[in-house]
Amino acid sequence: MQGVARNFFTLAIIYALCGMALGIHMAISEDHGQMPTHAHTMVAGWLMSAVFAFFYHLFPAAGQKTLALVHFWLTAISGIGLMIGLYILLAGNPGIEPLLGISSIGFYAGMLLFAFIALPVVWKKSLSEG
Ligand code: HEM
Ligand code: HEM
Repeated sequence: MQGVARNFFTLAIIYALCGMALGIHMAISEDHGQMPTHAHTMVAGWLMSAVFAFFYHLFPAAGQKTLALVHFWLTAISGIGLMIGLYILLAGNPGIEPLLGISSIGFYAGMLLFAFIALPVVWKKSLSEG
């Protein structure tokens, strides 16, 4: 694994370690107030980044494009803003909402960019398929 695929996989592991630690903290403290932060870190963080990593691993040509690097940084920066912003919000600080709004839009834009990168790749007819 290399390039953007490896970046996404490393990000996925970081999300998993942070999200699971938060899950254990929630379970021990019996305070599930950060459940949405844990849920998004695990699913929108760990699982989605892992899917992106394996996509770019399976289709290395797509990962070599500059757009793939833009996809990585947009997803990484907005995703981290989303998770940290959500944590701060649920800790009782509604003032963080603008950061959450901007991060959400950035995260959605990252997914839109991924659709633009990935759909042509998976719909392209390979020579072996005839
Ligand atoms: C160290 C392992 C984990 C611990 C200790 C843990 C702990 C928790 C706890 C305490 C809750 C709150 C349950 C509630 O209040 O109803 C929760 C919810 C959740 N967890 Fe985890 N979790 C772990 C791993 C994972 C993993 C690996 C995933 C996904 C890949 C995950 C996804 C979720 C989701 C999506 C929810 C929200 C469920 C809902 O909407 O009701 N968790 N977890
Ligand atoms: C643009 C980014 C996103 C925003 C603004 C967003 C917002 C929300 C909101 C407002 C809820 C309800 C929380 C509650 O009732 O306490 C929610 C729940 C949930 N979302 Fe998202 N979401 C986003 C992306 C995603 C993605 C990409 C995934 C999965 C890949 C996901 C998985 C979930 C799950 C599993 C729940 C139920 C667990 C919970 O209640 O926290 N979300 N989301």
